[in-house]
Amino acid sequence: AAAVLSPLVPADADERLLDTFARLDGLLTVSSSALHQIVVSMASEFRRGLAKDGRSLKMIPSFVTSLPSGQEIDSVLALDLGGSNFRVCQVQLQGHGRVRTTQRKYTVPDRLKEGTGTELFDFFADCVAEFVREHPPAGGSDGHTLGFTFSFPVQQTSINHGTLMHWSKGFTASGVVGVDVVTLLQQAFERKKVKVNVTALVNDTVGTLVAHAYTNPQTYVGVILGTGTNAAYMERLSEVPKWAGGKDGNMIINTEWGAYDAPALPITEFDQALDRASANPKMQIFEKLISGMYLGEIVRIILTSLVASGELFGGRTSPDLNRPYHFETAYMSRIERDHSLELADTMNLFTDLLGISWSTLDDRRIVKHVCQLVGLRAARLSAAGIAAIVTKINCLDGCTVAIDGSLFEQYPHFQSRMRDALYEILGINADNIILEQARDGSGQGAALIALLHRNE
Ligand code: GLC
Repeated sequence: AAAVLSPLVPADADERLLDTFARLDGLLTVSSSALHQIVVSMASEFRRGLAKDGRSLKMIPSFVTSLPSGQEIDSVLALDLGGSNFRVCQVQLQGHGRVRTTQRKYTVPDRLKEGTGTELFDFFADCVAEFVREHPPAGGSDGHTLGFTFSFPVQQTSINHGTLMHWSKGFTASGVVGVDVVTLLQQAFERKKVKVNVTALVNDTVGTLVAHAYTNPQTYVGVILGTGTNAAYMERLSEVPKWAGGKDGNMIINTEWGAYDAPALPITEFDQALDRASANPKMQIFEKLISGMYLGEIVRIILTSLVASGELFGGRTSPDLNRPYHFETAYMSRIERDHSLELADTMNLFTDLLGISWSTLDDRRIVKHVCQLVGLRAARLSAAGIAAIVTKINCLDGCTVAIDGSLFEQYPHFQSRMRDALYEILGINADNIILEQARDGSGQGAALIALLHRNE
């Protein structure tokens, strides 16, 4: 890690700045040996979760037992609730691995995330009604087949039924935990007189994996690095003791790795502060170190502590810097991309978005360093998770990992940092693990699964 970080230390840094840098490095650097420990511990948590429910990793059987051939041809609707965004898509499978998607994006207002489940599902049904009016079903059919991507931990009871185990990513809507979310959706459709038949319920990681496999059959792992983080992979049923059905063949398992928590994780006092103040304390610990919903908030907490110790902004804070979740992960991206003279763009960001007009060059260097450390830590931990999966399924001789999410797609250096960490962990075997950008796969995958299971 030292090699990765050394260019970050400015040549003309004075002693005080070097001290601050060194202390932050000590707290936030994940060493190679720590990465190795995490891989080993996570792989063993995978096994425990596959053996029995109620372990720290849920390892949820998805009921999806096969990947598409790429030759499927049809048109299916998909609903995709990921986090802040909600999408309605019409997915046209054209064969030969080709897919066309028409979609509309909606933002889920905070008031609905925190309100009642009925209002939330009514909102989904209204959006679908509007979409269906604009895109009526083709060829005289009297309704739509729909795949529902619901990106929360769901205890799946069949391909199109499952109950929400707990919320994550800031959702708290009442009356949904412990209830079958497809029933809630189907009831909302009935209230709104929308004719659709929900034939698949899938997690976004499962959708991403299936959609990518439609074009690249070497894909065995699907990962989301966005508002939240999670992964799914194709597992042999003989490796899933808790599965009560037949043991022949394979099934996609939704790991819900965001819930991973172990002494091997590099938790700092800042992470603890974030967790304590969160909507779900002591839960989703791995996710809180990695995903886009939290990275900015970790940085904000570190900055306020540096202000308190007098190391930053001359000890003067601002109301915006004090406001939880005001410092967005997108700010980190912008600061990490700032290569301007004297970090002028970072200065503008402080003035415009944080109400801090008194930053010095050293202040800006410290903030950039904090962003780099927190971003690097997240990328390295994500790589450790992927290494744990590819080790578990023993596909070190060749496998594609489909990855979607804003962090992987947009955060500067995230991909190269992940790749570097993967080499640190796996050595030259990392050559055989292809990390591929997947886009909008979660909806497409749900549509494919809905189609494959339409007649069940
Ligand atoms: C959260 C959810 C999980 C989802 C992930 C990515 O971790 O619990 O189900 O896959 O976010 O959206």
